[in-house]
Amino acid sequence: MNYYVGIDLGTSAVKLILADENGKTVNSVSKEYPIFFPQPGYSEQNPEDWWSAVSEGLEELTSGVDKSLVKGVGCAGQMHGLVMLDENMNVLRPALLWNDVRAGKQTDYLNKVISEERLREYTGNIAFAGFTAPKLMWVKENEPELFGKCRKICLPKDYINYKLTGNLATDVSDASGTLYFDVENRRWSKEMLDILGIDESYLPAVYESAETIGETNAAGLSAKVIAGAGDNAGAAAGTNTLTPGRCNISLGTSGTVFIPSDKFILPQNSALHSFCHVNGKYHLMGCILSAASCNKWLNETVFDSGYDVSVSAPKKEDTLYFMPYMSGERCPHNDTSVKGAFIGLTHATSRSDMQRAVFEGVSFAIKDCIELYPDKIDFATVCGGGTKSREWMQILADVLGIELGIIDNEGPSYGAALLAAGVAIEPGIKYTVKPNLNFSEIYDIKYSKFKQLYPIMQDFYKECL
Ligand code: XUL
Repeated sequence: MNYYVGIDLGTSAVKLILADENGKTVNSVSKEYPIFFPQPGYSEQNPEDWWSAVSEGLEELTSGVDKSLVKGVGCAGQMHGLVMLDENMNVLRPALLWNDVRAGKQTDYLNKVISEERLREYTGNIAFAGFTAPKLMWVKENEPELFGKCRKICLPKDYINYKLTGNLATDVSDASGTLYFDVENRRWSKEMLDILGIDESYLPAVYESAETIGETNAAGLSAKVIAGAGDNAGAAAGTNTLTPGRCNISLGTSGTVFIPSDKFILPQNSALHSFCHVNGKYHLMGCILSAASCNKWLNETVFDSGYDVSVSAPKKEDTLYFMPYMSGERCPHNDTSVKGAFIGLTHATSRSDMQRAVFEGVSFAIKDCIELYPDKIDFATVCGGGTKSREWMQILADVLGIELGIIDNEGPSYGAALLAAGVAIEPGIKYTVKPNLNFSEIYDIKYSKFKQLYPIMQDFYKECL
């Protein structure tokens, strides 16, 4: 029996799985690393910490099998992160992550001066502060000396693939989130590189996700390494979200709604991302910056509890809302200033009410993304840490008014292993959740009130900073 390693280079931890050639997971390992928020809106990690965690994890993961049977390694990673390397391929500074929103000014310049129209023409997308291009501009403007030493720029999982193989490469799904990639034609955008003043020699070679980029001997292996994928496209491979009509919702640190398309689409609503898929095709995606991370914050930072808070029942007269804008918001608002909030607290508010409000607030924000799609969605698979709470999954189904299938694999890491193995497999569904129609009216009303709150908060935080 041959084995394949799938790596998910996440924001809170790296998850590694070992799958056999039939797609059965036989071992898994998770290793955490720190995240740094040196100033409000900044979010950084050390690429060396990622590599230590991956190399230790690989040893542990494969220690019980005949290593000669491990034939392939695939890595899916947090998207958009800016990793800068010097002429000796050493890391120049901590990576600026996908939820780093310091580049608001540069984002406005790209969208307003270069113009959304031109950006969409060159890349299929407009600028968001978390995308790689505005962050690159920020470093160029604010750390010119350091920028002068930069010779290579890559995405987080590309750095891991470089450490594994010695080759600097990227794949089309992850490259799509840089804003200097021509998504429709699956190649770097010359126009964008000119605008940014970056020579193409700084960038990795581009591959399709399942193509081999080299071989690794890490952890005593002798296995091929594929180009891999951005974590959302990886999760799509893991949930078999490969063809039109499918939809996958991922509830990790971020929350995403992912819909495949056979053709390149320039979405009417530019808040949706139009990116390459792992199968030579394309997809649309909506992304909220804070999803399961809001629940982690509530339970660990505020309640200091073991995720044991019960959830109160939805009530018509409820006044409590949670706005999940803990790192500003990507879709649909593209707003780096807005902040998270509880609105409508009273002396009667209990912990159970606050727990409900957090589950509801994140679900409403996911609904904001789903509403950007022109087509009706009747069913979605759901993966990610958020699926650990059955109560949350019920609230999500009630708010969205669609049936959900909670999948039984780890999403991106499983998808990366399948890509390395060159197979597509229909995932197992742990359980399905149908919307409870008794709550539809309450949630329709609550969602319309939730939508009224953002414009007020938008003005408040624009003026207040
Ligand atoms: C997608 C995005 C996030 C990260 C999280 O556009 O920014 O989902 O990939 O890892």
